[in-house]
Amino acid sequence: MCGIIGYIGQRKTAPILINGLAKLEYRGYDSAGICVLEDQELKTIKKKGMIAELAKDKNINNLSAVLGIAHTRWATHGEPNERNAHPHFDCDGNIAIVHNGIIENHQALKKLLEKHGHKIKSDTDSEIIAHLIEKFYKDDLEEAVIQALNLIEGAFGLAALHKNENRIVVARRGSPLIIGVGDGEMFVASDIPAILEYTKRVIYLNDDELAVIEKDKYQIKKLTGENVDKEIHEIKWTVDQIAKQGYKYFMLKEIFEQPEALLNTLRGRIKENQIKISVDLDITKIKRIIIVACGTSWHSALIGKYLLELITGIKTEVDYASEFRYRQPIVDSDDLMIVISQSGETADTLAALKEAKKKGAKTLGIVNAVGSTITREVDTGIYLHAGPEIGVASTKAFTSQVLALIIFALNTKQNQGEKIDKEIIRELANIPDKISQALKQDKKIIKLADKFKDAKNFLYLGRGFNFPVALEGALKLKEISYIHAEGYPAAEIKHGPIALIDKNMPVVFIATKSNLSQKIISNMQEVKSRNGIIIALVNKGDKDIKKIADHVIEVPETLDEFSPIINVIPLQLLAYHIADLKNLNVDKPRNLAKSVTVE
Ligand code: F6R
Repeated sequence: MCGIIGYIGQRKTAPILINGLAKLEYRGYDSAGICVLEDQELKTIKKKGMIAELAKDKNINNLSAVLGIAHTRWATHGEPNERNAHPHFDCDGNIAIVHNGIIENHQALKKLLEKHGHKIKSDTDSEIIAHLIEKFYKDDLEEAVIQALNLIEGAFGLAALHKNENRIVVARRGSPLIIGVGDGEMFVASDIPAILEYTKRVIYLNDDELAVIEKDKYQIKKLTGENVDKEIHEIKWTVDQIAKQGYKYFMLKEIFEQPEALLNTLRGRIKENQIKISVDLDITKIKRIIIVACGTSWHSALIGKYLLELITGIKTEVDYASEFRYRQPIVDSDDLMIVISQSGETADTLAALKEAKKKGAKTLGIVNAVGSTITREVDTGIYLHAGPEIGVASTKAFTSQVLALIIFALNTKQNQGEKIDKEIIRELANIPDKISQALKQDKKIIKLADKFKDAKNFLYLGRGFNFPVALEGALKLKEISYIHAEGYPAAEIKHGPIALIDKNMPVVFIATKSNLSQKIISNMQEVKSRNGIIIALVNKGDKDIKKIADHVIEVPETLDEFSPIINVIPLQLLAYHIADLKNLNVDKPRNLAKSVTVE
């Protein structure tokens, strides 16, 4: 976690760094800091809280330097305060570093450094790096960084300055870092939005690579010393695409963007009633699929299991990435691991992927962020093409992940020598339009949100393909409105959760048509007879459920296996409006960050 930006060029660096940090705030916003090199002096300003606090400091405008680094923090070691804010320094204040990641052996290194007289001022693991660089510094920052990193165990995206050197030294292992190539100026950042306004030419650093950046040149090396030649990628996203475009929050914009995002996921992938994707995989060699992911992406993984087993007949398992990586899983070369990740940088997902690769599994990524670490680690993959997702709560990534899983499942079926029904292809192509229809429920959902915004608890219930949708609806609500919410398979409530139901408990049923419709009606009766308040998601024209439910939200009908994509839309809107009506910062929920690059 945490966001890094650095600049070297001819322009005043402070406004560029502050602007870039604002674009990286989704990576954490516990504290922020900036350090520039001016008249051979390192000048630093740090603030607790969001980037706006740092930007407000009057001294920022007085900085005229053309070289600097900055950081926005998501605390892992040491509480979020000014002392623990980055940049961190060596004893003499000659070396400044910003760091994203976790130094696992920092306690041992701290003891060693303290023995040699270093005074560590913060509670962070990151400060250790500045002191290690100091220990090895002999008029060459690059060499000192290499020697310091040799001693470090753990993850880093790092940028370092020395007051006597007109360059930035950066390095990565496990935490993302890119270099932006400008005209007589260079940038370094954790992610593209931070620099997109200034350049679209980007180099992705790989693990264990280091770069020395000057205003009109750069050199990239492995940490072992060999030079590396890297391709410059041209970024296609526009600055406009990552702005809010009139919506109050990115989350709302991204909810309403879903018809277009899903059209982009489908684009070019349906031709002549067939699915066409270029996945480099011999499916006949695969005996089992294991899907790993975290959070919302894990919910789409669960839907993926139902889809893959139904459509392809291949045994499929789903694991939390964080559990998979440590439970000594049995994996071999007949297995395909699918990793699902919006950011492509989630540390646990990446570690699970590496574990499966080590054991010989084939790997496939379903990822949104182009060029992210996971996309570079997998054997093959499917991009979501959903566009940048900035709101911390994932919305369009979820629906496009489920769509990508459908596409993959149908493609696999074709590769197994079977034909796909034309009706299924037609229904697939109709999904973006059906999302647009579901979005028309927005006004009705605002009224419902107003009614239930003060509820203390919520239950979300669904069955089959819509059980993971219940989990996702509950996650959306709790993460942005801080209302306690739980998702369950509807039939499970009688094994415990039903004890919670009383006249104050709103229960959201995902009750669109399926072969389990009658059973879900029985589950509703169980709630009704205990005075629970039923909010039911139904298909247009459903009369039976309207008789039982207190409130209904109508969505267009589709195939049961495609229905999660449509059904989640009202749940995203309900969570959004409840949080907004409670005046909460929807895009930046407390304690959360968009990209979880630490375990
Ligand atoms: C919830 C949310 C998170 C992410 C999770 C995985 O709204 O966004 O639960 O889904 O952190 O992130 P990715 O998909 O980037 O691996």
